[in-house]
Amino acid sequence: MTDTTAQDRRREAWTALEQHATATAALRVQDLFAADAGRFSRMSASACGLLLDYSKHRVDAEAMTRLLALADAVGLRGAIDRLFAGEHVNTTEDRPALHMALRHRGDGAFPAGAADVMGVVRPMLGRMRDFAESVREGRFTGFTGEPMRTVVNIGIGGSDLGPSMVTGALARWHHPRLRAAYVSNLDATQLQAVLANADPRSTLFVVASKSFSTEETLTNARSARAWLVAAAGGDEAAVARHFVAVSSRPDRTTDFGIDPANVFEIWDWVGGRYSLWSAIGLSTMVMVGADTFERLLAGADEMDAHFRSAPLAANLPVLMGLLGVWCRCFLGASTHAVLAYDYALRDLPAHLQQLEMESNGKRVTHDGAAVDFATCPVVWGGLGNNGQHAYYQLLHQGRELVPCDFLVPARTQAPLPGHDESVIANALAQAEALMRGRDAEEARAELAATGLGGAALDAAVPHRVVPGNQPSSTIVYRELEPEILGALVALYEHKVFVQGTCWGVNSFDQWGVELGKVLAARIRAELVDGVPGSHDGSTAALLDHIRALR
Ligand code: F6P
Repeated sequence: MTDTTAQDRRREAWTALEQHATATAALRVQDLFAADAGRFSRMSASACGLLLDYSKHRVDAEAMTRLLALADAVGLRGAIDRLFAGEHVNTTEDRPALHMALRHRGDGAFPAGAADVMGVVRPMLGRMRDFAESVREGRFTGFTGEPMRTVVNIGIGGSDLGPSMVTGALARWHHPRLRAAYVSNLDATQLQAVLANADPRSTLFVVASKSFSTEETLTNARSARAWLVAAAGGDEAAVARHFVAVSSRPDRTTDFGIDPANVFEIWDWVGGRYSLWSAIGLSTMVMVGADTFERLLAGADEMDAHFRSAPLAANLPVLMGLLGVWCRCFLGASTHAVLAYDYALRDLPAHLQQLEMESNGKRVTHDGAAVDFATCPVVWGGLGNNGQHAYYQLLHQGRELVPCDFLVPARTQAPLPGHDESVIANALAQAEALMRGRDAEEARAELAATGLGGAALDAAVPHRVVPGNQPSSTIVYRELEPEILGALVALYEHKVFVQGTCWGVNSFDQWGVELGKVLAARIRAELVDGVPGSHDGSTAALLDHIRALR
């Protein structure tokens, strides 16, 4: 098949979806349920302890058929095979994306063939395990011989969001002597607050940076080191007792003064936002223990196997990816909300924000051609129950189409009498309300039943109307065990790959973030050394104003 034929097939599938979206624009999901008793069983799928219900989406059977035809036209099955075969799917950086190897449980090679990376992955996992156990058992001691009590991860982006989210989610498994803190922000207020609650004699710093050149991380790490050395009476040797580093650039960690024995390596084929499974997860492993960490890996590995082998029509990441493409490109939704009804998942939306937006917030295809369709939506969200009392008003009555993912456990991690039933009731009620809404007739009847009538009734009705028909997916699981968390995060990672494939973009680079870094370095030089810069009128005036305020 020539490239032109492949492009023609993609265009044809795309046009068929556009036509179907136009033809079904007036479709109401509630009517689809009324007409089809089997809708839920046809539009739900399970794998790895997760049930995905997508029956509340604005799709009929024909839409699903056409979405699967798009997956076929863009060669999704072949793309998945190439990803798992270790081909250089990260085309602009000419390397594979092999985060799946980090959680590969079998004894065999991964990927099969010459590029096998398990020869470095397994020993590194062993080193992480040894180190984590030495901290947990109190054998790794500080400059006064004290065991560690506080673990401070210094990192940003993927070197912060993933590990902090997982560590927070697995609090039930934390070692009782240890507490974790995550420092990412350049504003030293964050670091100082953490240090104020830490004892230098028992504080372990994990400096996590794939590149070991990230300004935020190095600035915080330098200040943390100064704090420690001052507490050790100026003894630089204390650094080796309290600092470890995780990086793909061990040379830079040595320049920073970290003992090579305390450096844990990651590799260029692990993207930052896909790195929580690697040594970037060291702080997590120290907190929850190696066995629990490996349960997380096992859950992700199971999802990898599902993604690789399940038929596309029953494949969770494929379904979620295609539904996202449908909502974004054919229904015009510009945002996507992730609403967790599980306190353990409070930081998941922030992690997914980086995962999705840094991966697929792109405007050119692999070969550099501009795309003429929408790509990644703005991903946002939080704890659904709190959101109900904050931003859900817009979901129910605003003018935006906002597809939502509801994440719902059958049991939370700390069930007290009466709580879990309310959690579940609220989650399901919100998804139901977003779908069914309340029309004017219903609103009128409800108001009339309260005794309202006449002009007051007429005036009140429009304010009570809820249009409904907001699409949502609901993901249900029994309880947030480590395996479930692993499967859930891997599900979203592969969803991102599916969407990147449909859009033809490289989901594994992030060139857009570079320009701001270059300009920040220039402005910093102006502030610190007075190096004259050349700016637009706004930036120059703001700089002058801030200089005057300082
Ligand atoms: O600036 C973006 C980014 O490179 C992310 O992709 C990455 O997760 C983060 O910065 C941190 O990078 P590093 O781990 O190299 O410090």
